[in-house]
Amino acid sequence: MAEPGSPAAHAGDDIIEVELDGLGPRGDACGRDDDGKPIYVAGGIPGERVRARVYKRGRISTSAEMIALLRPSPHRVEAPCPLFGHCNGCQLQHVAIERQLAIKHAMVADQLGAVGLEPACVRAPLAAPSPWHYRNHARFTVKRGRLGFVRRHRHAFFEVPQCLLMEPRINALLATLQGRLHETTQCNIRVGAPDDAISIQPRLSLDEPASGQPFVIEVLGGRSFRVSTPAFFQVHRAQAERMVELVRAAVLEVGATVVLDAFAGVGTFAALLAAHVEHVIAVEESGPAVRDASYNFGGLSNVALRLGKAEQVLRAMVDEGTAIDVALVDPPRAGCLPDALDAIVALRPRRVVYVSCDPGSLARDLRAMVDRGYALSWVQPLDMFPHTVHVEAIAVLDRAAGD
Ligand SMILES: C[S@@+](CC[C@H](N)C(=O)[O-])C[C@H]1O[C@@H](n2cnc3c(N)ncnc32)[C@H](O)[C@@H]1O
Repeated sequence: MAEPGSPAAHAGDDIIEVELDGLGPRGDACGRDDDGKPIYVAGGIPGERVRARVYKRGRISTSAEMIALLRPSPHRVEAPCPLFGHCNGCQLQHVAIERQLAIKHAMVADQLGAVGLEPACVRAPLAAPSPWHYRNHARFTVKRGRLGFVRRHRHAFFEVPQCLLMEPRINALLATLQGRLHETTQCNIRVGAPDDAISIQPRLSLDEPASGQPFVIEVLGGRSFRVSTPAFFQVHRAQAERMVELVRAAVLEVGATVVLDAFAGVGTFAALLAAHVEHVIAVEESGPAVRDASYNFGGLSNVALRLGKAEQVLRAMVDEGTAIDVALVDPPRAGCLPDALDAIVALRPRRVVYVSCDPGSLARDLRAMVDRGYALSWVQPLDMFPHTVHVEAIAVLDRAAGD
């Protein structure tokens, strides 16, 4: 339970008993002290009572390491990965997958409730068809030739022989490269949809495996996409397919003819919507992603691509008098800047489809749009990142009648 050599092993630390009733922002289970201050206990599960050793008393919260499970959760399972608890990657492997979904549902609903939105509009999360070996992208730290991750406590490096979240091709490359990477401190491995679509960065001086490939090919919605090394692409291909279907249905349901795809990445949504609507405007700030999107839009004459920050490009569209029916918004974890939200509302789309990987910023931005005349119809969480505390969600807002 307590990790050898972790801060919890220091002599003189105090021992507490705590009821765990929630999850902290990093996925640690959370209880409260007598003053209501959060106590975070890694490896706990909401509903459990544990004995724990405090290793850090901060002004805002206390961190403790579990030393005994006094009342285990009925949802507790054996974490299959021997690195679980040491590694930052997974926080929920010790929780049955059905319970992970319930926890993620509550995470989204609680954030909505906290900003005064109706938690009941959050649907049951869509389970992943493949909760293991789903990740198509890995970023390894390299030390003395060995690939690994950085430990949860003390940020110390540890070697990773295999990762249960990675696609088998990444684990095969990991085994091949282990102990041979003396020329770099980082290694980025991406695998695309075709079996031979592999990118290892940086370029290595090894004869085998080949490395330095600048992009991989992905396939989504029956279309191929070039994805360059720095560009974003969803890590769980099967769940990305379902997300695209949901987004497409939400856009087409209102009979959209002009669609804005803000934060467009390599152009997945825009390209897949182009066959169904008259015009799509894709906005993206990253140069490599825009170059990929331009390539991926080859043959699509009804997609306009605008390079720039959403908050500036969307304001320019308002000034130009651009008319759109639906705004599709898929920002990074921090959500939209206020200027971007202002411009989206000023463009007066009938519907906003908001794709998010962070329930906190999602709730904040939904609240801002509801305050400006939009009604929240539904929120659909998707388990895009099984065994981690992360959750993806699609939210649909409609302009209130008469507004
Ligand atoms: C979560 S990804 C979504 C990409 C794409 N919709 C997809 O599904 O693959 C967010 C994208 O927003 C881009 N981005 C981040 N900040 C931005 C900004 N201020 N303006 C425009 N694009 C931005 C990133 O480069 C990234 O491609």
